[in-house]
Amino acid sequence: MNPPALQTVDVTLGPRSYPVWIGAGLLAEHARWRAMLRGRHALVVSNTTVAPLYLPHIEAGLYGLRWASFLLDDGEAHKSFANVGRVLEALGELGATRDACVIALGGGVVGDLAGFSAACWMRGIDFIQMPTTLLAMVDSSVGGKTGVNLPVGKNLAGAFHQPRAVLADIDTLATLPEREYRAGLAEVIKGAAIGDEPFFAWLEQHAAALAARDPATVQEAIARKVAYKAGVVARDETEQGERALLNFGHTFGHALETAGHYTTLLHGEGVAIGMLLAARLSERLGMSVPAATIRLQRLLETLGLPVAIPPGMDAQQLLALMRLDKKNTAGTLRLILWRGIGHAEIVAGVDEADVLATLQTTG
Ligand code: NAD
Ligand code: GLY
Repeated sequence: MNPPALQTVDVTLGPRSYPVWIGAGLLAEHARWRAMLRGRHALVVSNTTVAPLYLPHIEAGLYGLRWASFLLDDGEAHKSFANVGRVLEALGELGATRDACVIALGGGVVGDLAGFSAACWMRGIDFIQMPTTLLAMVDSSVGGKTGVNLPVGKNLAGAFHQPRAVLADIDTLATLPEREYRAGLAEVIKGAAIGDEPFFAWLEQHAAALAARDPATVQEAIARKVAYKAGVVARDETEQGERALLNFGHTFGHALETAGHYTTLLHGEGVAIGMLLAARLSERLGMSVPAATIRLQRLLETLGLPVAIPPGMDAQQLLALMRLDKKNTAGTLRLILWRGIGHAEIVAGVDEADVLATLQTTG
C-alpha cells in the first residue's frame, strides 16, 4: 500500500507564519527542511532514546553546516533550567550566530526545552520542530509555547517562541511505545471535544483504525487536530482568551498527575480522565447532557485510555491540588467545561462543592 500523501497545515501568524508538514519519510526529505535554515550553524537537541533511532535520518541533511548535537537524558525531570544552560553553552561552543537554527528532534520534553533555548540564545533564534511522539505532533510542537519545569512546578518558566517549521514524520511513530501513543490520542480527542464535533464523529467512526495505527488514518487525525489548533493559535497566540480552551481536562488532569507523583499517569492519561470529569461536572451544573458524557467515555475507552480516578487518590487531596493550579477565587474554581461535544467554554466561579462531588463519584 502506498503511504498517504503529504499534508500541510499553515499556522498563520503574519511574518511568523510557518508550515506544519505531516507525512511519511519526512526526516529523510532533507531539501524540504534544509531550505528553512538561514545560516551556517545548527544544533540538534534530542534525547538518548530518540537520537540513536532518528538522528541518522537527518545527519546527511546537515552536510556542509557547522553542526553539533546535544542529547538530554530521557524523562520529564530533564526539562530543567540547568539543561537550558547546557544547550546555550553548546550553542556558544558551536559559535552559533544570530542566524543559527536549533532543531528539536523528539517528544514534547525535547521540543519545549529546545524551543526555550532557541528563544534565549541571542534573544531569539530560529528553531525547527521534528516531533517524534503523537502528543508532540498534535500538540506541543505547534503554537510556540516553550519552557521548562522548576522545582516549584511544571512549565513555570518559558516563552512564546514560534518555530520556523514543524516536520511530523509519522514513520517515527512505529517505535513509539503503545502507552505513549494512546496518551497522544487523548490530545487528539481533546481538540475534537472542545471545538470540532464533525471531527469527534470522525474519530468515533475511525477508532478501530486509529487503535491499530493505520498510517492513513493516523495522519488524517494528526492533520485535523493540528488544523484545529492552528486556528486557535492564529486567533489567540498568547492565550488571552480562546486558547485557554485547549486546557480542557487539564486542571483535573494536572491534579491527578501530581497526586500520582508523575509516575502513575502519563500527561495524556491524566487529560483523558480529566476531560471526563469536566464533562461530568458540566452535566452536574446543567450545562450538558448525559449523552455527551457517554459518547466521550466510550471513545476514550475504545482507544484504551483510562476513565476512572486511580485507586488510592483522595477527592479532597485532588481538590486541594486543583486550587493551586490556576488563579482561583476563594471557594470557587475557574475551569474549562463544555456544553456538549464541540462546545467548550471558560467558566469562572465554579463552586468547590460541585467539583468535590464530581471527584467523589468518579472512582
Ligand atoms: P516525552 O517527550 O517525554 O516523550 C515520551 C517518551 O517517548 C520518552 O521516553 C521519549 O524518549 C520517547 N520517545 C519519543 N519519541 C519516540 C519514538 N519515536 N520512538 C520511541 N520512543 C520515543 O513526552 P511527550 O508526551 O512527547 O511530551 C510531554 C511534554 O510535552 C511535557 O513536558 C509537557 O509539559 C509538554 N507539552 C507541551 C505543550 C506545549 O504546547 N508546548 C503541550 C502539551 C505538552
Ligand atoms: N497545549 C496548550 C496550548 O498550546 O495552548
